[in-house]
Amino acid sequence: CGIVGYIGKRDVAPLLLEGLQRLEYRGYDSAGVVITGPKAAGLKMVKAKGRVRDLEAKVPARFKGTTGIAHTRWATHGAPSDENAHPHMSGDNKVAVVHNGIIDNADDLRAKLTADGVEFLSETDTEVLVHLVARSQADTLEEKVREALRLIEGTYGIAVLHADFSDRIVVARNGSPVVLGIGEKEMFVASDVAALVSHTRQVVTLDDGEMATIKADDFRTYTTSGTRTTANPTTVEWEAESYDMGGHDTYMHKEISEQPDAVDRVLRGRIDDRFSTVHLGGLNLDAREARTIRRIKILGCGTSYHAGLIGAGLIEELARIPADAEPASEFRYRNPVVDPDTLYIAVSQSGETYDVLAAVQELKRKGARVLGVVNVVGSAIARETDGGVYVHAGPEVCVVSTKCFTNTVTAFALLALHLGRIRDLSVADGKRVIEGLRRLPGQIQEILKQEDEIKKLAKRYADAKSMMFIGRVRGYPVALEASLKLKEISYIHAEAYPASELKHGPLALIEPSLPTVAIIPDDDLLEKNRAALEEIKARSGQILAVAHQEQEKADHTIVVPKNEPELDSILMGIPLQIFAYHTALALGRDIDKPRNLAKSVTVE
Ligand code: G6P
Repeated sequence: CGIVGYIGKRDVAPLLLEGLQRLEYRGYDSAGVVITGPKAAGLKMVKAKGRVRDLEAKVPARFKGTTGIAHTRWATHGAPSDENAHPHMSGDNKVAVVHNGIIDNADDLRAKLTADGVEFLSETDTEVLVHLVARSQADTLEEKVREALRLIEGTYGIAVLHADFSDRIVVARNGSPVVLGIGEKEMFVASDVAALVSHTRQVVTLDDGEMATIKADDFRTYTTSGTRTTANPTTVEWEAESYDMGGHDTYMHKEISEQPDAVDRVLRGRIDDRFSTVHLGGLNLDAREARTIRRIKILGCGTSYHAGLIGAGLIEELARIPADAEPASEFRYRNPVVDPDTLYIAVSQSGETYDVLAAVQELKRKGARVLGVVNVVGSAIARETDGGVYVHAGPEVCVVSTKCFTNTVTAFALLALHLGRIRDLSVADGKRVIEGLRRLPGQIQEILKQEDEIKKLAKRYADAKSMMFIGRVRGYPVALEASLKLKEISYIHAEAYPASELKHGPLALIEPSLPTVAIIPDDDLLEKNRAALEEIKARSGQILAVAHQEQEKADHTIVVPKNEPELDSILMGIPLQIFAYHTALALGRDIDKPRNLAKSVTVE
């Protein structure tokens, strides 16, 4: 979900709608806006099921004010509808709240409030907060909100507007991001800097347990118990333009195309040719400590989990440290054994995914050392971890991850090389991998040039009901990620299997109508992989291979440039991003905003 708010002198509705557009990638099943101002009598609200453009169409011409809050939603409690859209407002139209997160004790509070005669207008958990604020007898809005929050269990990022205190917006954060944007005699608030950067790059990120009051020319931060805190404004490094589509039809296409530059950025300034290693300034792990690591456990969700799987492989290969990756969402629920000699690494594009954050917090509570491999600087996971590697992919707006995946995997290659060179990796191998890393941007460019051919292939396969993706060892996580990409945006069912496991079950599915995409790097497993193709061909299955040379058994081959064997998996996924893109396009899907998904899942 996304929150945006403004207080100042400008006409607020267009500002908020623009902010919502920029946040739409975080949720897009309904949206709403509430405004007020010196000349506006009370609060005025418009809400709509659907996209921000549907809301825009409903906003009347005379919807004028200079203060307001707005929201774009990804439903958790209550189906998408006009009523369940945020903001939520009290019956007397005095209090409006927008909320990201989940209130765990909402049912109890709702029952108590209903027993007291409060009438609920929606099915959402957020509405209890509105009534609690509205019923508070406290003198100030800050105290009213504080009183309400004391009764609430759960996670929130909220913004509250009150008709009797229309010179301010009160915001609070616990588990869901809230960022203040400082302007000239105007202030912004949002759940994501994406909504702010076209107006200001001076921001203050609230900590969990922090609140703030923003006024047109002033703001202050304090804890939920009322103690003042010191706010340290920082400058957002991403330019406003990097959030634009830049001449592409979709963000996904733009982000796929940006990969040569993005990979260049993750490498920049980090390679040390003299010692054939890399420097990772933010790691906070000296060589002596690095040598004591006995095991590495990588945690992430979705595409970041897949990047972690490739990362684990790279660490094992280059640093010879046993490593594995697990979905953070599973790890945190199984009372994991936290071992002092294990280094934990949390992977997240947004740095906000709740399951990853919760895993980090649980690990830290148990005394573990946790690093982050994160894209968004200063995000919650970046702040909670003891150090880490920023992946510098730049803002990623499309819900499905492409360039950030590639950069994360490349960041893992850097980390693996760094650890390897501290341990047993030779100077010669270090040099070889460094040269390979340097070749990546140019090789990605070569793959991008094949877009037209890949598009033709995508059209050929677009009517498949289901697809199988196979790979072995280095190729298997590539298969997993490629199948995820396809299902997320095209809604074609896809399964990924280790090629070696085909004969243990999935071979039963193979028939002419179930195509297989096979990842076949030119490594020492090539012959074994070819044997898997034989097995499929023998059952008349169609095969699309991604390989370093034409595959005789395949119906079609996408040939990718060869790098060092350890780094090949970074390249082999890229044509399959393009493949998924054009398949989804051929099927007329909404590529940047696939149904039922959101960019950042900040709830459990
Ligand atoms: C959501 C997105 C995925 C993403 C995952 C993890 O499910 O739809 O594309 O991979 O979250 O996000 P993160 O920001 O932690 O990498």
